[in-house]
Amino acid sequence: MSEYIFPKGFWWGSATSATQTEGAADIDGKGENIWDHWYRNEPNRFFNQIGPNDTSQFYKGYKDDICLMKKLGHNSFRLSISWSRLIPAGTGRVNEKAVDFYNHILDELIAVGIEPFVNLYHFDMPLAMQNIGGWENREVVEAFEKYATTCFDLFGEKISKWFTQNEPIVPVEAGYLYDMHYPNVVDFKRAIQVGYHSILASAKVIKAFKEGGYTGKIGIILNVTPSYPRSEHPADKQAGRIADLFFNRSFLDPSVKGSFPQEMIQILRDMDSLPYTERLDKEIISKYTVDILGINYYQPRRVKAKEYMPHPDAPFMPEHFFDYYDMPGRKMNPYRGWEIYEKGIYDILINIKSNYGNIECFISENGMGVENEERFKNEEGIIQDDYRIDFFKGHLKWVHEAINEGVNVKGYQVWTFMDNWSWMNAYKNRYGLVSVDLEKDAERKVKKSGWWFKALGENNGFSENE
Ligand code: GAL
Repeated sequence: MSEYIFPKGFWWGSATSATQTEGAADIDGKGENIWDHWYRNEPNRFFNQIGPNDTSQFYKGYKDDICLMKKLGHNSFRLSISWSRLIPAGTGRVNEKAVDFYNHILDELIAVGIEPFVNLYHFDMPLAMQNIGGWENREVVEAFEKYATTCFDLFGEKISKWFTQNEPIVPVEAGYLYDMHYPNVVDFKRAIQVGYHSILASAKVIKAFKEGGYTGKIGIILNVTPSYPRSEHPADKQAGRIADLFFNRSFLDPSVKGSFPQEMIQILRDMDSLPYTERLDKEIISKYTVDILGINYYQPRRVKAKEYMPHPDAPFMPEHFFDYYDMPGRKMNPYRGWEIYEKGIYDILINIKSNYGNIECFISENGMGVENEERFKNEEGIIQDDYRIDFFKGHLKWVHEAINEGVNVKGYQVWTFMDNWSWMNAYKNRYGLVSVDLEKDAERKVKKSGWWFKALGENNGFSENE
């Protein structure tokens, strides 16, 4: 029987974000963010027309939820602060009710022995900030820095792990290329500017953190998705390298190494898409890199050389350089349409060790979304999500192997504790260890995977047939 025991003090827990769980989007002084606004104007873009006000009601139920987290083996939990709840207009007045709310959550977590990991930005631009251009506008970069400093001042004593942003490439892709987030722009050059300003904003926040003498560590959470080329053919390999530049190294290199890959700069120059920069930016980005890296991993990216020339009038996209490749025989999560490739998590970790100075890191999201999970309920109404347990085990084995090979990986947090609102998909795909019944006032029920996770945390590992 194989046993996988993790180093003492390994972080076990889960991650979530404000917009996806809090609900209460229009009360107690919260300002609107882009999700409230988009939903109000185009509810039809959201699965079953469920919007950010109707998410899991963590705002109301956080006490019980935190108790349950403790019961289910958590020693750490990542949440995000909602910028528009704390500072309704994005800049200026602080909402005292939000200060109370986040203080209560932090106190509760600490009281039960769960370490809070706090993220400052998870796709939720305050509407007032978006109205002046969002990340395209440097004033928003300044406002973000002020908001971050406000958080450090208000909550710093309770937190020793801060994160500037979660998956900052997603608002670039989804909001400025692929029409999945507000402001639904399709424009490569603007997307590059948004990405650049996000990176600058992260570095500036790190600078403020260091110069302010706050204690603890500060990092970033990135969705690192390894690119696997179809074959060893040079054209396929080149496709893989470019996909990797756009989707991984674009944020990984500046965040960890303080510089952008030269090859990427050259591509942007050739496309006449270099962003607007200012004189001191380079120094700030190079000096203020992260202390710790959170890695979100769900699926690999398989690519091949392009089959056809892109249409000359179509908007320019990163896919100009590669096609997606459906590898025959790949293992699929049929309920979500994503490939499951457990070894990908190991490949990422080895890459971090070999090419990114073996920086302290942890798995900050990993999980499996499944539609219509009620069909897996047993007589007691408990969802028998063995597929999710297998998913976690399969990935954890590779994390364990990476540790054996000297990777500085300190923890594993799943996505997510309880079913939550996944942006345009709303409650379509469920990821939780705990189910949320929207019909019954968001009633929580632990799934089989939740009980498995409890044992995982308590035993600091698992054995093959548990
Ligand atoms: C991640 C994101 C989360 C969550 C998850 C599952 O990319 O950080 O907010 O939505 O995907 O869909």
